Amino acid sequence: MPRIAYLDYNATTPLDSRVLQAMLPCLQEEWGNPSSVHDWGQSARYAVEKARAQVADLVGVSDEHLIFTGTGSESICQVLHSVAKKWRGQSCHILTSAIEHPATLRSLEQLHQDGMIQYSTVLPEHSGWIDPKRVESMIRSDTRLISIMSANNETGIIQPLPEIAGLARSRGIAIHSDMVQSLGKINLRFDDLQLDFASFAAHKIYGPKGIGALAFREKGDLIPLLHGGGQEMGLRAGTENTAGIVGFGAAAALCREFLPEEATRITRLRDQFEEQLKKKIDGLHILGADQTRLPGTSCICFEALLGTYLVQDLAAEGIAISSGSACRVGESKPSHILLAMGIDPELARGAVRFSLGRFTTEDEILQAAELTRRAVLQLRQNPEKI
Ligand SMILES: Cc1ncc(COP(=O)(O)O)c(C=O)c1O
Repeated sequence: MPRIAYLDYNATTPLDSRVLQAMLPCLQEEWGNPSSVHDWGQSARYAVEKARAQVADLVGVSDEHLIFTGTGSESICQVLHSVAKKWRGQSCHILTSAIEHPATLRSLEQLHQDGMIQYSTVLPEHSGWIDPKRVESMIRSDTRLISIMSANNETGIIQPLPEIAGLARSRGIAIHSDMVQSLGKINLRFDDLQLDFASFAAHKIYGPKGIGALAFREKGDLIPLLHGGGQEMGLRAGTENTAGIVGFGAAAALCREFLPEEATRITRLRDQFEEQLKKKIDGLHILGADQTRLPGTSCICFEALLGTYLVQDLAAEGIAISSGSACRVGESKPSHILLAMGIDPELARGAVRFSLGRFTTEDEILQAAELTRRAVLQLRQNPEKI
């Protein structure tokens, strides 16, 4: 298949070549085990701690409050399990939203099935925004944790995390945020928000896959998922993925340096892309157009069309997009996020997500807009594909 434009940055991002350069020494010369006392080991330890400082700097937390994990999902899972275990034997209610990533929703469902917790999901407004008042109205006397994402992966809508965190704090309830999609794209800082936990992943910010991070306020509030050699402050056993960690650090440093200008450039491209589509195609709805969104995310419902066919047809033309979350490839049922927003299921079936990023060019979005116009027209003329 040809490759014309990659517009699926919310699924994953390419490795920045500067990140690769930073990683190479860890794979070639500095391959020691960071726990070893000899020079090989100590060089690797130095590299890991430098990267920790870089990621912590982007997250807005001090180094000793951040550990590396395997993925964003693992970080989320560790927080939810820690809270459930902390309150074992007492009633434990976790409040989340209906538009969270499956890493949150499925972990909560599993903990619930295991009899460890009860949980409730707050519905967003029709706009996709989570009203803090709705969160407040669902707090119970046994609510131990509120877990709300900072920005949604499908719509890009930025949630009122400062208000929700304030609400949790004023009631003595712990607060976690899945910040996997917002890291490096908008300036949200862990310490300023006074969060208890936050989860991150390197592969959304031009770093490598298979490396995540977890920021925490109190070490004692976390319980390891993996037991063994005591790495990562005793919170995540296993010899460190040194190259992955160094890559995460380098990726974070680049985001920290270029965030404001990159966000402006990508937002401008996204807006230009949406203008093009509106001009060229009838019957489309841009979700969250009146909300504050992540710079590069554009979730669009096309009337009289099945999103998965559009994704396939555009893939054949060399345009990479997704229908909702990449984690649900092959499913044609509407996304749980759009359904929770109260989008008509018929319309929600026509949803696709375009997500732009660091390497997206104007030429790419112009080509993508034109190929989308053609694909939508063809699909709407084909009764078998409606
Ligand atoms: C909002 C959100 N949370 C969590 C995750 C899971 O991250 P990872 O793939 O690193 O486990 C993703 C990945 O798509 C995401 O978009």
